[in-house]
Amino acid sequence: MRWSTGSVKPSVAKADLLVVGITGQDDDRPRLRPWRDLDKTLGGLKALADGQVFDGKADKLHLLPGGRTAAAWVLTVGLGKVKDLSPQSLRKALAAASRRARAVGARTCVLALPWSDLGDMTAEAVARCCVEGAELALFRPGSEKAKTGKDAKPSPKSWKLLVPDAAIGREARKGFVAGEAYAEGCLFARDLVNRPPNKLTPVALSRAARAMARREGLSCTVLGEPMLRKLGMGGILGVGQGSRQESKLIVMEFKPRGVRGKLPLAALVGKGVTFDTGGISIKPSANMHEMKGDMGGAAAILGAAMIIARLRLPVRLLVVVPAVENMPDGDAIRPGDVLSMASGKTVEVLNTDAEGRLILADALHYAGKRKPDWIVDAATLTGSCLVALGHEFAGLFANDGKLGDALRRAGGETFERVWPLPLVEEHHKEIESPIADIQNIGSRNAGASSAAAFLEEFVDEKTAWAHLDIAGPAWTSTASPLCPKGATGFGARLVARAVELLAGS
Ligand code: BES
Ligand code: MN
Ligand code: ZN
Repeated sequence: MRWSTGSVKPSVAKADLLVVGITGQDDDRPRLRPWRDLDKTLGGLKALADGQVFDGKADKLHLLPGGRTAAAWVLTVGLGKVKDLSPQSLRKALAAASRRARAVGARTCVLALPWSDLGDMTAEAVARCCVEGAELALFRPGSEKAKTGKDAKPSPKSWKLLVPDAAIGREARKGFVAGEAYAEGCLFARDLVNRPPNKLTPVALSRAARAMARREGLSCTVLGEPMLRKLGMGGILGVGQGSRQESKLIVMEFKPRGVRGKLPLAALVGKGVTFDTGGISIKPSANMHEMKGDMGGAAAILGAAMIIARLRLPVRLLVVVPAVENMPDGDAIRPGDVLSMASGKTVEVLNTDAEGRLILADALHYAGKRKPDWIVDAATLTGSCLVALGHEFAGLFANDGKLGDALRRAGGETFERVWPLPLVEEHHKEIESPIADIQNIGSRNAGASSAAAFLEEFVDEKTAWAHLDIAGPAWTSTASPLCPKGATGFGARLVARAVELLAGS
């Protein structure tokens, strides 16, 4: 989709569809003050409002003939009450409007917003949210052409946002660039997670990562099993040894060109289990297919890297993604096996289904060797976190206040929300092993925290580190305006925004 700004009156803007954002009064009746210009050309807005033809209720749509406006059709979209306006309510309104635009076959759209009612948000944020809302809403799963048959309706090809003055226009165009990057990073993550596990093997994931790196100007090196053996990565090799698919460690780096001065180094680590059967500690078969999404952390991190590189944010990036498949087999690791990890620590494997932490341990150690300023990892790590927080929140563990705050703030802004969970000495006690340095599971309770404690064993305590357990929000079984069933792409926008905040301060 092409986004541009324009400064004509809404009534004279030429388009297939003129979308008008209508704020609501306290009784949900539309606020008409910003739309005097449309009153005459649409044949009396007040009469239409009085007849309850349209209102300002959030996400409510009303399609009207263009009348004497220059648009073929006019679509009012409710933005909700002014006091409830937020980045997310704007995204949702644009999501609803753009779906209807596609349904009615509109190719060129003009968007008129009541700028005087959007007081709290900068024009850049408004534009960013409009782009995100429209683009996230139009994503269809199966874009890798697994669905045969007739082609679906095309999306609108252009949007023009009407702005009151040149300064707001400039701000808005900055917002478009950011919004496009954020939306595309999220969609990239969604697409990876939705791909079937026979197609998205560890090798295929590393190819997709390499292709993205080439497009966006990151360097990418993929380490194969011989190299993993040299590095002593018993965690990654152990989990992968029950699969016919070769295990990989994807490493990417990025540095924006032409930025002077010493840039901080952000290390991003993502769990890339392309399918998690549980291994010998095999999972029940109901809903096991959802475990194709067990590379949701990897997808989030790759999506975040894509956004950061696209926007040339002033940071250096190190991306580390271990990619494996967890299968039961004659070669698979057994409960009771002891693995030697890259850090030198030994791990007693008591449950082969607690595999994510084993591969992340080696990846975190690898990332830590570069002494990054921050390490953020994302992983669909524990069912326990899903039980505790549901699908709306990721679990947040952070050993550093500033990093934790950045993620919390980014979560609010992107609506990829996080909630802090505890991680203390007692959680480390849970994973003491009688025969090795540590074991890979704790007792039944506080499973998200004992998993986080396991990861912390592989992070230098002087390095600022945050762990996001995205087992809940990475996947949705109910469609919403901004996201169909399946992968949500959760984490890409969150992590990119947190890095953007950290880099700017
Ligand atoms: N990938 C799962 C966690 C998961 C569960 C993600 C549900 C998304 C939805 C992870 O590898 C796992 O199996 N964890 C176990 C750990 C347990 C054996 C300590 C779990 O949470 O049950
Ligand atoms: Mn598992
Ligand atoms: Zn898993």
